[in-house]
Amino acid sequence: MNLPGACGSVTSLQKPQPSGYSSDGVQCNTVRLTSIPLSMLRILTLETTCDETAAAVVTDSLEVLGSVVVSQDSLHQKFGGVVPEIASRAHLENLLPVIDETLRRAGISLTNLDAIAVATMPGLAGSLLVGLIAAKTLALVLQKPLIAVNHLQAHIYACKVAFKAELPDGGPFPCVGLIVSGGHTSLYRCNGAIDFTLLGGTIDDAAGEAFDKVAAMLGLPYPGGPSIQKAAATGNPKAYSFPRSLLHEDRLAFSFSGLKTAVRYHLFGVGDSKPGSSGAGGVSLIPPVSESEVSDIAASFQEAAVDCLVGKSVQALKQIGLSTLCVGGGVAANARFRKKLEDSAHKNDFRLYMAPPALCTDNAVMGAIAVERYQAGLFEPLDLDVSPGLVR
Ligand code: KG4
Ligand code: ZN
Repeated sequence: MNLPGACGSVTSLQKPQPSGYSSDGVQCNTVRLTSIPLSMLRILTLETTCDETAAAVVTDSLEVLGSVVVSQDSLHQKFGGVVPEIASRAHLENLLPVIDETLRRAGISLTNLDAIAVATMPGLAGSLLVGLIAAKTLALVLQKPLIAVNHLQAHIYACKVAFKAELPDGGPFPCVGLIVSGGHTSLYRCNGAIDFTLLGGTIDDAAGEAFDKVAAMLGLPYPGGPSIQKAAATGNPKAYSFPRSLLHEDRLAFSFSGLKTAVRYHLFGVGDSKPGSSGAGGVSLIPPVSESEVSDIAASFQEAAVDCLVGKSVQALKQIGLSTLCVGGGVAANARFRKKLEDSAHKNDFRLYMAPPALCTDNAVMGAIAVERYQAGLFEPLDLDVSPGLVR
């Protein structure tokens, strides 16, 4: 099977170079392992929470022996968002070839594995089930332990995988963790890799959802985050003053629906939007607006969203009294966000670990968090179920 988006190398992350990751989360600039120490623990991790089908083989020293991510973007593009039924059917088609390719890149066979890990929460129910059933089957047939991965904790763990060489054994913990993706925008006190306390999150839309919806309003392709970033590159972030909801309140909460609505009102006027006049796939609502106007709106929207994310993260650090921030999730791939967060880390004197862009969007490398559960003896029975529930 042809695996779109698959990178051709097998990896050894002896010295993590976050910038060296390819678009599928594989570090491409490293050499194939010729021999694998017998004592090395090898875990197959599966990721099917949303619309990426991914697998990786990771070791207990957080080396990535192989990793494959197959994106479904092209399937969902015409709908302007993820269609759950299409997503689960695509996982069904893609998962076994993705596992085969991952093992091939790792240079090992199924019998060399020590455990099978799978993301079981949160996510789309049908998508999660495909990954879980595959993982259970492998665990049963191979008689290997089954490990459950919390997808949100895994997004933060991507920072530990990427920066393991410069982090102490315990990783970046305790830290404040910001998970900013298509389904979540939440701040956690991360006491350890698998011990999180929710500090607060969005009271309406996730940041990524706002990027996706605003992109659709502007007639830009799905996924909206990268499209907005591209359009914003030539726009003026000060062209329009969109709201930064809750930014100047003490509570650790986000709100992006007002920002999204402000863009809509800017485009259509108050009470004058015409969803019925939408374009292809029913998602493009754009009135006649010039390319430079689209760029200005994209840049002004992006600036407002980024200001909220950066501002609330700093508030969380101050309120909790911690000086380390870890950031993961698809929106954390945003270049403007990364730049403003870096500037803020210098100004406010906190340590910042951002997952490299390829490990921000969904991937199975971050499932390396399974190593922590393996070492803590946290294995699951074969009647394990998925927990799709949205955690905000
Ligand atoms: O973490 P992720 O791959 O999946 C979820 O768990 O939701 O995040 C996907 C989200 C989408 O909303 C997408 O538009 C957004 O991340 N995203 C970005 C960028 N790349 C992906 N948002 C802003 N800027 C980006 N460069
Ligand atoms: Zn995610």
